Amino acid sequence: MDKLLIEGGARLSGEITISGAKNAALPLLCAALLTAEPVTFSNVPQLNDVRTMLKLLEQMGVKVSRDGDTVTLDAGELSNPVAPYELVKTMRASILVLGPLTARCGEARVSLPGGCAIGARPVDQHIKCLTAMGAEIKVEHGYVHAVCPKLKGARLFTDMVTVTGTENLMMAAALAQGETVIENAAREPEVVDLANCLVSMGARISGAGSDVIRIQGVEKLHGAVHRVMPDRIETGTYLCAAAATGGDVLLKRTSGSYLDAVIDKLLDAGCEITTERDAIRLQGPKRLTAVSLRTSPYPAFPTDMQAQFMALNAVAEGTAVIRETIFENRFMHAVELIRLGADIRIDGNTAFVKGVPALEGATVMATDLRASASLVIAGLVAQGETLIDRIYHLDRGYEHLDQKLLALGAKVTRVK
Ligand code: EPZ
Repeated sequence: MDKLLIEGGARLSGEITISGAKNAALPLLCAALLTAEPVTFSNVPQLNDVRTMLKLLEQMGVKVSRDGDTVTLDAGELSNPVAPYELVKTMRASILVLGPLTARCGEARVSLPGGCAIGARPVDQHIKCLTAMGAEIKVEHGYVHAVCPKLKGARLFTDMVTVTGTENLMMAAALAQGETVIENAAREPEVVDLANCLVSMGARISGAGSDVIRIQGVEKLHGAVHRVMPDRIETGTYLCAAAATGGDVLLKRTSGSYLDAVIDKLLDAGCEITTERDAIRLQGPKRLTAVSLRTSPYPAFPTDMQAQFMALNAVAEGTAVIRETIFENRFMHAVELIRLGADIRIDGNTAFVKGVPALEGATVMATDLRASASLVIAGLVAQGETLIDRIYHLDRGYEHLDQKLLALGAKVTRVK
């Protein structure tokens, strides 16, 4: 298993290019299942999760061709509408094939994703709403088995805001009979990116980005060419790394427009931020000021940035209160940060982080994607060497992480 060795103390400076968004690319690749014509995506990040998704689609009969960051999918012949456990267990986002397969093939067998480090991650809302659209769904032997010759439009209400739930239902509704209204829909920019792609394939969708999305089903969808939006969480992660090290970085091919809540907190922490058309620059202060936060669905502070801010607060002036309201177990990075000398007390879904003058390098272990990112940020500011184990988590969500950090002057080496 690869490890990442970080020599702390370097102030990040320079510029890097942000990759396409993992959480936009994954649903977009599944949208190709909805048509027999080829769909081409550009700016697709080369991540393990994307490779897993392409493998999953290929074993269903989708023809995949890649050329750098451009991927063309041809789902003309879907021979096997099944998502097997071996692939799904490594990537929960596989549940995103459920809606498209049911809509296109009238049947789908998708392994239950199972929990992950940050929580149980149930898919009951996906099932509840697809059932409301007429699907016969049985959950047995660890698989969701959906059958429905033709989905019917319905008024759907999800009990909580669910990002992939909204995406699954929007894709299913695109080929359903009649109108579907999704109430309490997720407003994340990745949902909007998917809606824009579906519309370019001939779908009739309005309201994406708001909490009520209306979809008029159509008979067929056609091929399209779509560019994946920039990764706002990768952007936020590098902004935090620059902030923590008192650096000065320019992130290109991205924007601050989907990060208002995060930028707000970085400004409160004492950073200087300038945004250009498709770039964002951050200059970090000598010492950060602690910032409290509470995670909530978009456009509020994203849960995927919570771990990174815990690392920032670990070395900031003052005490921060961090509330995690989306996932039930998303503080695993806290114990690892404490190994690096952080002063953190957890009480249920609230973390009290008292800034310390300095962290000390140690050996730590990554547990999930964003927790690993927070350990990288902490390692960049800790005195001495930090060795992060199980960094395959990082490779799932951060393209060319080592190269990008090296380009910004960080002292990192990947240890086989
Ligand atoms: C998406 O996960 C993202 N993944 C996650 O990013 C992100 O943290 C999450 O949204 C929240 O923003 C992708 O887009 C591929 P949810 P998703 O359904 O859709 C509960 C990362 O680091 N829930 O919005 O799985 C659920 O347990 C990943 O890139 C149900 O109870 O999250 C959670 O508490 C991690 N039943 C809350 O809702 C359901 O049927 C929000 O989950 C669905 C969800």
